[in-house]
Amino acid sequence: MEDLDPTFIQTPEHRSDSNSIPNQPEEIPVIDLSRLDDPEDVQNVISEIGDACEKWGFFQVINHGVPCEAMNRVEKTVKKFFDLPMEEKIKVKRDEVNPVGYHDGEHTKNVRDWKEVFDIYFKDPMVIPSSPDLEDEGLRVVYNKWPQFPSDFREACDKYARHAEKLAFKLLELISLSLGLPKNRFNDYFKEQMTFLRINHYPPCPRPDLALGVGHHKDADVISLLAQDEVGGLQVSRRSDGVWFPIRPVPNALVINIGNCMEVWTNDKYWSAEHRVVVNTTRERYSIPFFLLPSHDVEVKPLEELVNLKNPPRYKGYKWEISKRRKKDKGVAQSDAANPSGPVGGNDDTETMVPNATAGTMHGSQFLEEEVAKSSARTRPFSGTRNNVPTMAEI
Ligand code: OGA
Ligand code: NI
Repeated sequence: MEDLDPTFIQTPEHRSDSNSIPNQPEEIPVIDLSRLDDPEDVQNVISEIGDACEKWGFFQVINHGVPCEAMNRVEKTVKKFFDLPMEEKIKVKRDEVNPVGYHDGEHTKNVRDWKEVFDIYFKDPMVIPSSPDLEDEGLRVVYNKWPQFPSDFREACDKYARHAEKLAFKLLELISLSLGLPKNRFNDYFKEQMTFLRINHYPPCPRPDLALGVGHHKDADVISLLAQDEVGGLQVSRRSDGVWFPIRPVPNALVINIGNCMEVWTNDKYWSAEHRVVVNTTRERYSIPFFLLPSHDVEVKPLEELVNLKNPPRYKGYKWEISKRRKKDKGVAQSDAANPSGPVGGNDDTETMVPNATAGTMHGSQFLEEEVAKSSARTRPFSGTRNNVPTMAEI
């Protein structure tokens, strides 16, 4: 039995064998977007997307318009990068000042993930808050880091990201329509989007029973679009009972999931599901998530059109971009030279949202105090249905 660095070891209730896949796995929907070309089928596609967002918070899409060549090219290129010796990779390493680039010390809920990553802002340069101080409203400009080798790394990633963005906004339209809203209802939130592309490399792991590629978490973004290879390992926790189900690799498909912003905008109608990645002893795995994020100054709160007296807002508004800084205040995601923070808003390793005790926007310490009450409530599986939502007191 090989020894595993203790920083990777999950607590027993979070290991891959706990509460896991039942004998007859239920399939997460796979939706063929070419059906949108048939005017008679459009409404069905929209309702299938809405149902998947509500029941699972996850679905897959095929014939989605992102060319296979763009996906294959980026996959091939990034493999060459991760195969380089560490001296090369750390030349483009994430640091205290610049949160993007290469990193091999990613933690989720304070346990180290069995993976290495490369992060790329969609907008280059990107404007981000200049300091972790909540009072400081200053902004600064950050540039992506690009490796010298492989030489087409930048172009391959850029091209793929442009296609992914197009699909992300198409999906946002469909999601908006599925909620009975105008198709461009969300568009204003993305004027200064903080979207980023991440490359995940999961090497074979000697103890997949103890470590995870990514520990259980929700994505803090609006929606994520994930390309995965054929190895498999991604699992989602079912909304109704928290049981873990695999997201099976489907050739050329993209996995779509709802993030925390969308969950708040829809006042919990759509679900930001917990997910995780199990690793294995023999095969490395690659995945490429595209995290669609709003502008840093957007206040995320339930949409007025979706709340009423019977369905009052369950969240106060929050400036989502402060979430990473707030974690530091709590001492949850330590940011030190050995483990600097990455871009805000991908893997949300604490809860970023706050239940609505009273109306209004939360800032600073108020945010912090009320979050404690929230986190225990939010992690319990949701057992209601759309017409039978528990009240705040019940969850
Ligand atoms: C993530 C994530 C899943 C995967 O990076 O946030 O959930 O399959 N990745 O790599
Ligand atoms: Ni994730």
